[in-house]
Amino acid sequence: MKSRTPLIAGNWKMHKTGPEAVGSACKLVELTADTAGVETMIAPTFTALSEVAEAIGGSQIRLGAQNLHWETHGAFTGEISGDMLTAAGCQYVIIGHSERRQYFGDTDEIVNKKVTAALSAGLNPILCIGETETQREADETFNILDKQVQKGLEDLSENDLNTLVIAYEPVWAIGTGKTATTEQAQEVHLFVRSLIDKKFGKALAQSLRILYGGSVKPSNVKELMGMPDLDGALVGGASLDPETFSQLVHFQS
Ligand code: 13P
Repeated sequence: MKSRTPLIAGNWKMHKTGPEAVGSACKLVELTADTAGVETMIAPTFTALSEVAEAIGGSQIRLGAQNLHWETHGAFTGEISGDMLTAAGCQYVIIGHSERRQYFGDTDEIVNKKVTAALSAGLNPILCIGETETQREADETFNILDKQVQKGLEDLSENDLNTLVIAYEPVWAIGTGKTATTEQAQEVHLFVRSLIDKKFGKALAQSLRILYGGSVKPSNVKELMGMPDLDGALVGGASLDPETFSQLVHFQS
């Protein structure tokens, strides 16, 4: 029995308008009202955050954002700060998703600044890490993950990281239908936990939640979550339909 409460998080990416997001959120509130022993989070697009916060108010579903800027305010046209997310009702923020790294230039240094900013704003950061297919084939997986963890968490203390979550999302498994095998995922999660142990100590390594992301669906969730070092899932495609996402949230039943 794991001591860490699993987190099933839905990353809605650039899908759903405000009204559509509210419709899905209301449905999800109904469908997940009976869940216990699992935490649920949804991350709609920025423009839907406040409306969705109202729709899920009083339920056990938490709200997350998909990104933030590292400054608190200023002349940064188009950007959104941690305080703005907190004020909109967010408790979580996804940082360093591979799509941000690939298309929007989020480097490990930027990711580190964003993690720090999220913590200052009282948000729980979900730090995403993961290797590409080419890196895996070249046997670089562990080096890449080591670098992403070391740089992403640079200058942070054990105390800072109590609310941090790490999400391992192999880039080759995102939206492709290719899921990492349970053994591949477990091997990486254990490795990441050992990095945290070395950097921050055993207590944090044991309490830190490490999520798996990449083509998680109702047919594979139970097996993945059964692995000792997998503490939840960060879900893209299968989080968009409330019925399907609710099945993932209910993986224990
Ligand atoms: P899919 O579940 O669609 O593969 O996406 C995973 C993901 O990127 C979640 O952040």
